[in-house]
Amino acid sequence: MTHFHSMNSDEIREKFLNYFEERGHARVSSSSIVPQADPTLLFTNAGMVQFKDVFLGREPRPYTRATSSQKCVRAGGKHNDLDSVGRTARHHTFFEMLGNFSFGDYFKREAIEYAWGFLRKVMDLPADKLWPTVYEDDDEAFGLWQEIAGVPAEKITRLGKKDNFWSMGDTGPCGPCSEIMYDRGEEYSCGPDCGIGKCDCDRWLEIWNLVFMQYDSDEAGVLSPLPKPSIDTGMGLERIASVVQGVNSNFDTDLLRPIIARIEEVSGQSYYPDERGFPHRVIADHARACTFLISDGVLPSNDGRGYVLRRILRRAVRYGRKIGLNEPFLGRVAEAVIARMKGAYPELEERGDYVLRALELDEERFQSNLDRGLALIDGLIGQAASNGWSTIPGNELFRLYDTYGIPWELAAEIVQERLPDMAFDSSGFDIEMATQRERARAAHKAKAGMGEGFLDYEDLSLPATKFLAYETMSSSAVVVVLAAPEGRTQVVTEGEEVEVVLDQTPFYGERGGQVGDTGEIIGSSGRVAVTDTVWIGNNIVVHKGRVIEGRLSAGETVTATVDPKRRESIRRNHTATHMLNAALRIVLGSHVRQAGSLVAPDRLRFDFSHLGSVSRDELEQVQRLVNDAIRHNWPVVTTVTSYQEAIDMGALAFFDEKYGNDVRVVQVRESGRNFSMELCGGTHVSSTGEIGLCIITSEGGIGSNMRRLEAVTGGVAEELVESRLAALEAAARLLQSQPLDVPAKVQALQEQLELERKKLGAMQREMAKSAVGDLLGKVEQVDGLSLLSARVYVPDIDVMREMADWLRDRLGSGVIVLGAVIEDRPSFLTVVTKDLTSKGLHAGNLAKAVGALVGGGGGGRPEMGQSGGHDASGIDDALIKVRELIKR
Ligand code: ALA
Repeated sequence: MTHFHSMNSDEIREKFLNYFEERGHARVSSSSIVPQADPTLLFTNAGMVQFKDVFLGREPRPYTRATSSQKCVRAGGKHNDLDSVGRTARHHTFFEMLGNFSFGDYFKREAIEYAWGFLRKVMDLPADKLWPTVYEDDDEAFGLWQEIAGVPAEKITRLGKKDNFWSMGDTGPCGPCSEIMYDRGEEYSCGPDCGIGKCDCDRWLEIWNLVFMQYDSDEAGVLSPLPKPSIDTGMGLERIASVVQGVNSNFDTDLLRPIIARIEEVSGQSYYPDERGFPHRVIADHARACTFLISDGVLPSNDGRGYVLRRILRRAVRYGRKIGLNEPFLGRVAEAVIARMKGAYPELEERGDYVLRALELDEERFQSNLDRGLALIDGLIGQAASNGWSTIPGNELFRLYDTYGIPWELAAEIVQERLPDMAFDSSGFDIEMATQRERARAAHKAKAGMGEGFLDYEDLSLPATKFLAYETMSSSAVVVVLAAPEGRTQVVTEGEEVEVVLDQTPFYGERGGQVGDTGEIIGSSGRVAVTDTVWIGNNIVVHKGRVIEGRLSAGETVTATVDPKRRESIRRNHTATHMLNAALRIVLGSHVRQAGSLVAPDRLRFDFSHLGSVSRDELEQVQRLVNDAIRHNWPVVTTVTSYQEAIDMGALAFFDEKYGNDVRVVQVRESGRNFSMELCGGTHVSSTGEIGLCIITSEGGIGSNMRRLEAVTGGVAEELVESRLAALEAAARLLQSQPLDVPAKVQALQEQLELERKKLGAMQREMAKSAVGDLLGKVEQVDGLSLLSARVYVPDIDVMREMADWLRDRLGSGVIVLGAVIEDRPSFLTVVTKDLTSKGLHAGNLAKAVGALVGGGGGGRPEMGQSGGHDASGIDDALIKVRELIKR
């Protein structure tokens, strides 16, 4: 069969897609391994997953026939091949599925016809090697195989539900299927019981599954018919390649060989197809899965997809130990995966750096603990053997994971190598895990008040976000983590609040006083408005915002674009802050130290230490120096150097900040020297002229020896000047004067006003005096004492007090209550002459009681009281009621 060797897997893939395209099928790209918006599924495990809603009649497509080569992962959930990997020639966690699909178009006849045609004519496989199976009661398919392919009845096997009824998960589209088995030959036979449906050995290789999709299964397993009978087929590319290339195992195909070769290279251990090559096979398979999973947005974590990835990754590392790999090596293997697969899946190369960084992070963490973890497992094996345990308890399994990062499934595999019958309390492990997660959530909630995000990002061991804010305002990126207020999620839809972590970003996260950027993240089917950006820890940038259109999914490729106008304003204010710092040091002295700052788009704030106050004149000098520097249009230059070198150069460092080894130095270069030189991670203009104008808007003390200055720049400063000039001109017009004469004119007016006020006051007093005579006529006798309770008309309380004094003098002995409306409010003044206070009458108390009558209060001394209220219309009534108050 030597002629087979000429066809490599890329050709097979292409021939397949082409064959079906020629038969009216739309060529559809592979979807992500992370199912988009399908919570029922851990991973895309078949080609039909992206068409699920099309089968169910819920989603229209412009075609009724499709073909694809789909990235699949079967490691967890309903279809899980993880434990078989390396042991058989044909199982993988990651593999490619070639498929053709009919959505209510053709059915069994064509499906069988096409498959047979492809295998016989295009792949040139001999008919006698191909053995179809059908579902036990599917006479139609049984007949079609005889009719179309001429397969004799005795070569067609009827199998039950377990083998020949396919469903994608616990729910969803399903139906009876017909599989095509390839007979590798007697030499692969596992013995006398070897046979289709009887054994599970490598002789009978299932290469293609044709599913006759007819039902939708619900949670209870109840089947309802699909709108139209449909076709879903799947053929593992690795398997058909092994057959076509005439090799013994998927691991010997051109898809896996280069990866095995890389493992031989990094380990120095040759590969053998037998038991000795087991670690090579596991690592090769797992490295492919890790590479593809990470590039589709999955990252190692404690639960869900992330945990499965971690399991796969760490299992590979553990098998690395078996062939002497004690240092991180997966990155080197992943490089080989990317090199081999990037032709068909260009995203691998686009996100290559990211994949390697993520791999390295989790592997390093694990490698450094693995020896101690393995020792602990040894101890556990000893303990189990001597105590006669039949089960390893859940808390022991959890301790291994929690302390040494060994997933319990991997621990179980290691234990079983020595104690094959040992059982493992996985539910105990799950409970411990859930408890710990709950604890972490509670701890995170406690912290959340401090402006943290929806998740404890530092706990996720995410690779550092690649920070592009210095270079660009827009870039493509991959969604690494999506979080809603409830926690991590795979999809967010319109209206939802969201936090997004990308593999790289042009967004500046709030830091060093500079506020976070805003802007948009645009995916293939939705948009997020970013309203703030923050740094979590030292290296993760989190975008906060809301989905304003459609939806966004983890793993998706997006375009992240900063609001450019706002960023420009921020840059102006940031450079201006440095220049103000420099100018303050020139004007006030070099003792000035920055104590804090805020750099926002519309303003800047700068706190600094300084003894005493800053004069108006000094402030003007500072502002003039800055604007002079702006007009000189000096270049602003950023360099990266070591911390020590920067300090030696004389750069200002802000004492509160922690600096790494490499620091950014921002210089405003005056010819020949630096106007300003500071360590700074912020974004700046490229020359000072861009700032346009800087206006100090306020300055004042904020505590001992601490001052705060606020300023605006650019367009905001221009608007400020414009609006102030306009106001000044309006004032000048009103004063019938010129702008520069306004202060003198206003001063003259104020003096004149004061004069008029005095004249008016004198006149009012005169008028009040003349009213006193009339008022004395209103004195009445109540219980043997003289009472005057009357309404008066006065401009203020002082005049009322003067009136009361005159009245007391005239009355000699008695009680006086005067009421007036002053500034729209009722006011009362009460007087009790001295001789009566000794009899228990109290002017203050009387004032309080009268005030209460108009919804207010009052008080005062025994001889004089004052009160006020809210209801001016009640004055006259209150004055009448005074009589009863006196009686009491
Ligand atoms: N969806 C079918 C399978 O995965 C073709 O076997």
